[in-house]
Amino acid sequence: MYSDTELLKIITNNDPEEDEALFARARSVREAHYGADVYFRGLIEFTNYCKNDCYYCGIRRSNRKVERYRLTETQILECCRLGESLGYKTFVLQGGEDPWWNDERVCALIKMIRAEFPEHAITLSIGEKTAESYERYFNAGANRYLLRHETANEEHYALLHPAEMSGAARKQCLRVLKKTGFQTGAGFMVGTPGQKPEHLLEDLRFIEELKPEMVGIGPFIPQSDTPFANEPAGSLEQTLRMVALTRLLLPEALIPATTALGSLSNEGRERALRAGANVVMPNLSPVNVRKLYALYDGKICTGDEAAECRFCMERRIRRFGFVPAMVRGDHIAAAQ
Ligand code: 5AD
Ligand code: FES
Repeated sequence: MYSDTELLKIITNNDPEEDEALFARARSVREAHYGADVYFRGLIEFTNYCKNDCYYCGIRRSNRKVERYRLTETQILECCRLGESLGYKTFVLQGGEDPWWNDERVCALIKMIRAEFPEHAITLSIGEKTAESYERYFNAGANRYLLRHETANEEHYALLHPAEMSGAARKQCLRVLKKTGFQTGAGFMVGTPGQKPEHLLEDLRFIEELKPEMVGIGPFIPQSDTPFANEPAGSLEQTLRMVALTRLLLPEALIPATTALGSLSNEGRERALRAGANVVMPNLSPVNVRKLYALYDGKICTGDEAAECRFCMERRIRRFGFVPAMVRGDHIAAAQ
């Protein structure tokens, strides 16, 4: 539909009027499929231990300044109960790649949540695992899995990660996740060090080919205790253009207005919704651990109770004409 040249021109556009036209087109495609509804997901950041060492990420293993925490099963279930009372129908369990949470423990947790909340969607976001592990999680009752590919270009991937990680392995995990039966979320950061417009084009071509059910897109934001502490943040407008292009290429995708966008700019999330996004993921984690899940500097919502975030988000989106939808919000093709 779009040639590489056309996409590159949009990716690097700096005419605000053309941006507005692009966002309007993306918005109308989103409206045709999902109306004005915005799906709410309750995000539980349940461990900030991580065995990986991604150069951009604040909870990388080499960051000795992070106070590490791991919620207990009981605490996680409490978050789910609070989430359910606030109306959430999806729980997103996100964490670093924490070896303590081995497959037995993860599966036991999923089964407990599944038993208590038979109708809820359970989304995992716990990194790269083997095909066997993914299958075990799926059979235990998880429905969805988020694993951003971060950048589709493998040389660029190598610039952002230590040698033991590879872009090829990451993409392979995404293919396995889809095959396992998960509604699968890919995604990437905009404005990471060394990123070129051509890399963003590759991100678009990759999602066009993979056809993930979800696509998470956020600006890179430096974190002061990482090797990229002094690198500039990604641009708000370019991130919004990537959201819009993703909507045009995958009209039915579930696209979150990410916390990183809200952290970069006060109305970043609202603007993403206006550029084609249709999901928000307010934080459900206990307030005392929120500041410890510091992937980047200046993360919002770290001092707010779950209920505050839930209603703050509702107020914010209503002001822009969107309608909070406290439903499971499965991908159109996956919903029965
Ligand atoms: N800036 C923006 N996003 C980040 N992430 C990790 N570190 C940063 C950062 N410094 C994103 C990655 C990861 C997701 C959970 O958070 O894309 O997949
Ligand atoms: Fe968390 Fe507004 S969404 S305080």
